[in-house]
Amino acid sequence: MSEHQHFRIAVIPGDGIGQEVIQEGQRVLEHLAQASNGKFSFQFDSFPWGSEYYAKHGRMMAEDGLEQLKDYDAIYFGAVGWKNVPDHVSLWGLRLAICQGFDQWANIRPVRFLPGVESKLRHPNVEELDWILIRENSEGEYSGFGGRNFTGRGKGKEVAVQSSVFTEEGCERIIRFAFETARTRKRKKVTSVTKSNAQQYGMVLWDEVFARVSQEYPDVETEQWLVDAMAARFVLKPETLEVVVGSNLIADILSDLGSALAGSLGLAASANLNPDRRYPSMFEPVHGSAPDIAGAGIANPIGTIASGALMLEHLGLHEEAALLNRAIEETTGQGKLTPDVGGTSRTTEVTDAIIANLSNKAASLK
Ligand code: NAI
Ligand code: MG
Repeated sequence: MSEHQHFRIAVIPGDGIGQEVIQEGQRVLEHLAQASNGKFSFQFDSFPWGSEYYAKHGRMMAEDGLEQLKDYDAIYFGAVGWKNVPDHVSLWGLRLAICQGFDQWANIRPVRFLPGVESKLRHPNVEELDWILIRENSEGEYSGFGGRNFTGRGKGKEVAVQSSVFTEEGCERIIRFAFETARTRKRKKVTSVTKSNAQQYGMVLWDEVFARVSQEYPDVETEQWLVDAMAARFVLKPETLEVVVGSNLIADILSDLGSALAGSLGLAASANLNPDRRYPSMFEPVHGSAPDIAGAGIANPIGTIASGALMLEHLGLHEEAALLNRAIEETTGQGKLTPDVGGTSRTTEVTDAIIANLSNKAASLK
């Protein structure tokens, strides 16, 4: 057996169901570490940041928050957003502060069908829908440049400017990342999504970089699509997609659409990667704090648990990540489903079933 590995994980449960699902994800990871027979262990340190923290301290996280997080091996994040704080304050004060502060420029969002979960729209078989959405996570429409002014003109005359920032370097690194990801897939294909007919500066630059970089990957099939047409294609021909790369806003919207296609927002996992590994990367479900079901014990934990699998992958525990993904598939296949995907199971019951399915495989871990 190789040397023991100890991983320090910063946990930020955040608000609403973030707290409920992160607890489940942690439970699964702890189980895997125990079953690893000394191969690896986790130390989870929890940070109480979020909207409740804001109510007490007037900020979403500690002032030296990034400093506190920077030496961790990874960050496991639930969701933020609650009624007492405007959504743009909670998002910029915590999640975006971490993503941008740690240059987590690649946001990876796999979308796939799980056995036993009915897609709301189509019913292709499992193999047919399995793609990865790669989202530029450091600039574009979420650069935070702009302002509000002209209040002096009087009520009803305010002007707001929100600028997008596209740098050649930023476009190139995410597009290259998409091509490298495509090379690890059975079908080697990258689809780039923009709206360069209407946004003639930033998105045309993106398109040009895509065309240039694609020359270096002659083994990878490429496509360039406009986002409106792509929204329709997600619904009508999802099986024709493999790796999809888009800007911050475009890929954010498409990923919720993709996860709805797969059955529920509660299934969707994501990784915010700093591929250079200068800073910790952050793993989180795609969904938000879901105030409508918070506290009811019925949140789907799969998005968070599958984000844990992405974390295992990032930490070099490839076999464990694959086992976990298989245990998730088995669990949904057994009909252990929360209400959002048509079942009657509670959050903890789905996790219990995933852990039971992992235990059946424990022998192969050693
Ligand atoms: P949401 O993702 O919280 O919920 C949308 C719908 O999906 C709701 O009906 C909810 O019940 C359902 N849903 C989401 N996750 C689920 C799960 N695991 N199991 C079962 N059902 C689930 O998005 P919404 O309502 O737009 O936002 C609520 C709050 O979350 C806002 O404050 C928003 O700013 C914040 N938010 C935070 C995010 C983050 O921290 N990364 C991402 C998206 C929203
Ligand atoms: Mg989103």
